[in-house]
Amino acid sequence: MSTSSPSDILSHVDAGVMTLTFNRVARKNSITAAMYSALADALEAANHDPAVRAVVIQGHETVFSAGNDIGDFLDNPPASAESPVFRFLRGLSSFPKPLVAAVCGPAVGIGTTLLLHCDLVYAGDNAAFSMPFVNLGLCPEAASSFLAPQLMGYPRAAEALLLGEPFMAEVALEMGLVTRIVPPGEVNALAQRQAQKLAAKPLSSLLETKRLMKKGNAGIVAERIAEEGASFGRMLTEPAAREAFGAFMEKRKPDFSQL
Ligand code: COA
Repeated sequence: MSTSSPSDILSHVDAGVMTLTFNRVARKNSITAAMYSALADALEAANHDPAVRAVVIQGHETVFSAGNDIGDFLDNPPASAESPVFRFLRGLSSFPKPLVAAVCGPAVGIGTTLLLHCDLVYAGDNAAFSMPFVNLGLCPEAASSFLAPQLMGYPRAAEALLLGEPFMAEVALEMGLVTRIVPPGEVNALAQRQAQKLAAKPLSSLLETKRLMKKGNAGIVAERIAEEGASFGRMLTEPAAREAFGAFMEKRKPDFSQL
């Protein structure tokens, strides 16, 4: 059983920038269904609010996000396209205004894949990215099966997605996932400064520039999120994922030898 509180996602707007903060550090900022709902609602509000011209997504200096809250995922598996996680992914992937991310420490699963939808990604030199879906008996989500090979090239994406091992900020920079690396204590402030620069620019130009840059991917990203989501939802109930999640909850190594 996982508990989450309304303060697990902090949201505030200042000088044209909405800042969304993962605030569940004791659980490594793992994300519950309630948190996905809060994120989806915030992005929808930011989209429609003319006073918001850019959004920052940030975590803590020690951890960005450990991805889905595993207990919550087992208790409330996403049951339909209207599930909080899919609402969030649709809102994020089609978000028309600039998205800036500030990442320190572990960024696991959706903690990494959400970055594929951000325009500027600032990382601390302690950032460790991973997409361990295979290790969890699952498949990629957030259109990462399309966006990761497109960004990194197939061989590096295959290593990241098939082996699922963590890679550090320097590698992420070289892959093109990260815009710039700074000391962890400076990441959130840098993201804020860059977002404020964006917020001072003409919104119509930002919107049109982002739309044009993303246009080639828009349709395929939406389709891929749905296709991955269908597989992910099915695989969540299958033996490999049950073994992986059971092992995590029991703090032991999973045994896939029979699967
Ligand atoms: N879901 C639920 N709880 C999680 C979690 C997650 N994704 N990630 C961490 N936690 C919990 C741990 O169970 C632990 O709880 P406890 O204090 O009751 O034992 C607490 O958060 C601290 O985590 P811990 O593993 O001790 O921290 P760490 O600094 O050693 O490692 C991570 C941090 C992120 C590398 C590690 O927690 C991890 O790998 N988490 C799982 C990530 C994952 O597989 N996510 C994908 C989900 S699809």
